[in-house]
Amino acid sequence: MDDSGMLDRSLYRKLLESAEEAIKNSYSPYSKFRVGSAVLCSNGDIYSGTNVENASYGLSICAERVAIFNAVTHGCRNIDAVLVVSEPQNPVPPCGACLQVIVEFASSKDIPVILRSLKGTEKTFRLRDLLPVSFSKEDLHSV
Ligand code: THU
Repeated sequence: MDDSGMLDRSLYRKLLESAEEAIKNSYSPYSKFRVGSAVLCSNGDIYSGTNVENASYGLSICAERVAIFNAVTHGCRNIDAVLVVSEPQNPVPPCGACLQVIVEFASSKDIPVILRSLKGTEKTFRLRDLLPVSFSKEDLHSV
């Protein structure tokens, strides 16, 4: 990342390609709402995920959490960027549960969260703008 917190072009391309591959495998027969995500780890590795639904609806999981859990499984606990790909023209942000999980592993609350539509629209937020106030391990240690 450069000083502005934005990604360099080649990392951005890799992150996007990874999320675009992942969305192809979306298992979303109930909502028919496909989402793909990719996260950039501080060592440069990239991990992806897609949403996986279940006939018992509440067991479904979002693409962002699958991507992060995939990263953690491979030893990455420091995430420098998150990218989310979806189909609507207005690309979707992570849900509240996913934001909480992103905060757990984000290298800072300034990391970019890039929202991208398969139709080409893109918006970038800093994590802190999507979840300004969050519960974290520091709160647990403040008693
Ligand atoms: N979903 C995600 O994977 N990420 C989001 O950011 C929003 C919602 C999934 C969950 C469910 O499989 C479907 O989209 C509809 O909510």
